Amino acid sequence: MCGIVGYMGHQNSNQILLDGLKDLEYRGYDSAGIALLEDGKINVFKAVGKIKNLEDKINNSTFDTKNSTFSIGIGHTRWATHGKPTELNAHPHSGAYSYVVHNGIIENYKEIKAELETHGHKFVSQTDTEVIVHLFEFYFNQIKDAAKAFKQTIQRLEGAYSILLITKSEPNKIFFMKHGSPLAVAYGNNTGEILFASSDSPLIGLASNVVYLEDGVYGIASTNGLIFSQDVKWDILPNSKQFAQKDGFRFFMEKEIYEQQDVVTDSMLGRIADKQINFDELDDTLMDGINEIRICACGTSYHAGLTASYLFERLSKIRCSIEIASEFRYKDPLLTKDTLFIVISQSGETADTLEALKMAKNAGLKTIVVCNVDNSSMTRIAHSTILTRAGIEKGVASTKAFSTQTVVLWMMALYFAKIRKTITDDKLQEEIRILREVPNSLKVENEVHEKCRRLSKRYLHGHGFFFIGRDVFFPLALEGALKLKEISYLHAEGYPAGEMKHGPIALADPELFTIALMPQHLHYEKIKSNVEELSARDSTICAISPLRFDLADDFINTKKTDHYMLEFFEMLVVLQLLSMEISVRLGNDVDMPRNLAKSVTVE
Ligand code: F6R
Repeated sequence: MCGIVGYMGHQNSNQILLDGLKDLEYRGYDSAGIALLEDGKINVFKAVGKIKNLEDKINNSTFDTKNSTFSIGIGHTRWATHGKPTELNAHPHSGAYSYVVHNGIIENYKEIKAELETHGHKFVSQTDTEVIVHLFEFYFNQIKDAAKAFKQTIQRLEGAYSILLITKSEPNKIFFMKHGSPLAVAYGNNTGEILFASSDSPLIGLASNVVYLEDGVYGIASTNGLIFSQDVKWDILPNSKQFAQKDGFRFFMEKEIYEQQDVVTDSMLGRIADKQINFDELDDTLMDGINEIRICACGTSYHAGLTASYLFERLSKIRCSIEIASEFRYKDPLLTKDTLFIVISQSGETADTLEALKMAKNAGLKTIVVCNVDNSSMTRIAHSTILTRAGIEKGVASTKAFSTQTVVLWMMALYFAKIRKTITDDKLQEEIRILREVPNSLKVENEVHEKCRRLSKRYLHGHGFFFIGRDVFFPLALEGALKLKEISYLHAEGYPAGEMKHGPIALADPELFTIALMPQHLHYEKIKSNVEELSARDSTICAISPLRFDLADDFINTKKTDHYMLEFFEMLVVLQLLSMEISVRLGNDVDMPRNLAKSVTVE
């Protein structure tokens, strides 16, 4: 969680840091700050809320970097973990000699703080981060050497963190450390420039090569270049800033919904060839000795995994269970080597999923990550990585990550089915034909978008929403409810349709909105009777189906297709658009909903 940036060079560092923070704003936006060191003088700016507030504050000050010849700066956008989102708790934190920005959590901060307080240190914030500058001060007072003091400081820290630190004593240096939270460093395109960021998007366009630091690597950036504590690997930075722009859409979320048909095509490229499903990333012997699949993920990725668990059992005929990573970690799970362990993550950084992956790997299981971000922490740990190729997802509410994950997992189910000989060739050809139709089902039709826009007016009030479905439409119902909750702040639940009568139906009345997923090709008659039961108890029904349903108060007509998975993707788009339009109508920030961040790197 949180985003950090750093810069040294001859350009207007203030603007470079602000632009970088805007790129990272999706990681957290409770507060932001920057510290700029120029000609030995340090300027610190902090503001609560979005980066725009910080920018306004700087613009309204007398501060001006335009004429400076060389400057060094660090910046941070925060998603509060320890201490409320206030200016005092915002980064950079300052001590007698240093300024620090930090991403992650210092787990032993209380112990360090108590120890330093006995030496007279006074803490002003409620954060874990502030111990870093005090520790640095403590050691610097003894050894009067910034590099040594920094090394001693980081040796004391436990937890997952990445850090940038600047000092008054050696003003031409940035000290850095990476342990558990991501940090990338690059030489800029202009002479003498060095840039840091907690993900590569702020670096795109400003640099060509990058080092994604490994855990435990620390070092110093100075006018003489970069010094690392150990050998590092240089990678080529992607040159795709255009992904990060809205392309004329109102929100990133909207753009990403419309993009789904293309990115799903990309995620299939090369993987469907010669009438077969191929995954070059997977070893031919992968399924040898495997009797079970266990999936772990969080949030939307969990919903993709739950969908896949139906497909793995149905197509690959292999036992498959799925768990929420934060639960899995602490239940002392029984891990046996005949289990293939799959984690799913858009970011590849979600702390609980990452930890679950490490547990499975340490227990000797074969591990796979289905991930959207190459070079992320999970891709570096798992035995195999299957990239979803959705491109940068900026909207905090995940959309295209889910559709690409689901398609990739479906293809994996077919791939395993083929290896395990649980699918006939005819059936495989039929599934491949359907897979190729998915982009068409994800295409946003004007009438459907317009209908969602119109209906959004009706579904603003009431005492709650139930999204109901059966089979794979149950995880889809969960995903629809999550989308609505995240960006509209309305209460919504996803429920298996057949389970309503075991309790929740007691809530039914006209103020209870039921969003019913009614596919033609999977248990239509069953879901129909579940919805009739709710309608008989006066719940307001919005049916999403290719078949007309007369009892519905509102009806969103999806295209007729010949397979339930195509209906799945047709309905996915409707659910995404409906929640987006309700959020717009309520005047909410669609791309940056309150209290959320894009990448949850704390447990
Ligand atoms: C919902 C959403 C979150 C993420 C969850 C896992 O729209 O984005 O629920 O799905 O935080 O994130 P990843 O997939 O990055 O592990």
